[in-house]
Amino acid sequence: MHKRGLLGIESLAIEQIQQVLDRARFYQPLQARTGKKLDTLLGKTIIHIFYESSTRTRTSFEIAAKRLGADTVTITAKGSSVDKGESLLDTLNTLAAMRPDAIVMRHSASGAPHFLARYLETPIINAGDGSHEHPTQALLDALTILDHKPTLAGLRVAIIGDIVHSRVARSNLHLLTKFGAQVVLCGPPPMLPQAFECFSPNVSRTFHIEEAITGADVIMMLRVQLERHGASFVASPNEYFRFYGLQLEHLQAARPDAIVMHPGPINRGREIGSEVADLPRSVILNQVENGIAVRMAVLDLLLTRNFSQPIEELQKTGT
Ligand code: NCD
Repeated sequence: MHKRGLLGIESLAIEQIQQVLDRARFYQPLQARTGKKLDTLLGKTIIHIFYESSTRTRTSFEIAAKRLGADTVTITAKGSSVDKGESLLDTLNTLAAMRPDAIVMRHSASGAPHFLARYLETPIINAGDGSHEHPTQALLDALTILDHKPTLAGLRVAIIGDIVHSRVARSNLHLLTKFGAQVVLCGPPPMLPQAFECFSPNVSRTFHIEEAITGADVIMMLRVQLERHGASFVASPNEYFRFYGLQLEHLQAARPDAIVMHPGPINRGREIGSEVADLPRSVILNQVENGIAVRMAVLDLLLTRNFSQPIEELQKTGT
């Protein structure tokens, strides 16, 4: 079954990803204009419901919707009926009864938006589900890479950090391997299980940051997701930085034109050296800027062109 919405990168066709990136390029120049507001989504209402904290994703979804002329409502778990014990499905059914044109949702449970998409008619956009997927992040990362490199095919992309808990890593892995990039994953052994090697023949794994960075065209750093595992995975922040933090001297092993990325929020001195984060080759703020163009593209395609993706049928158990 196909349904309007954006739940993840895994089930998207290459052509659909291409379609989003092309549309995002159309919206990129808008950033530099003074009159940024369009009427593409005039009369449409978008609800943003965030059960987990967010700065970039939430603001940029909201700005993207407003720049396209839509009305937006934002709800956070604190201050909503979630505090009063309402189930996820009941909350979402309540919101859907108000007839929004789309619901943008972030939740700490992997698969939460996929579950809801089976029940609700309203298109759902996944703004991050647990450690599963974060599709718009991977799309904006691809757009940012392509602002600097002619193609994704054949690029060596090092993704370094808390891979196992990162929805950003997973969505990027799906996208980058679909387009033929070589992905090297790197992190301490507990954050980088062997299962990741089965992802695609284009994915390899190393526990040594120097090896990951050697010859890299793109270095993507990830935050340690303490909220998903407590401090038990890391001995100490200083030790983590010593072995897995990106430091100036590491960059000598990368390609001379390598770019440094990070989805944010960054923790200076933990996964990335402060001076590295501020280098001209660091494109962290370009990622943020492209987040708006990508989310405008997704909303536009979804609400004016019926962008859809496959979702599994509900199993009929008879119970
Ligand atoms: C990421 C997230 O929430 O998954 N941030 C983001 O959306 N830009 C990464 C993170 O929290 O580390």
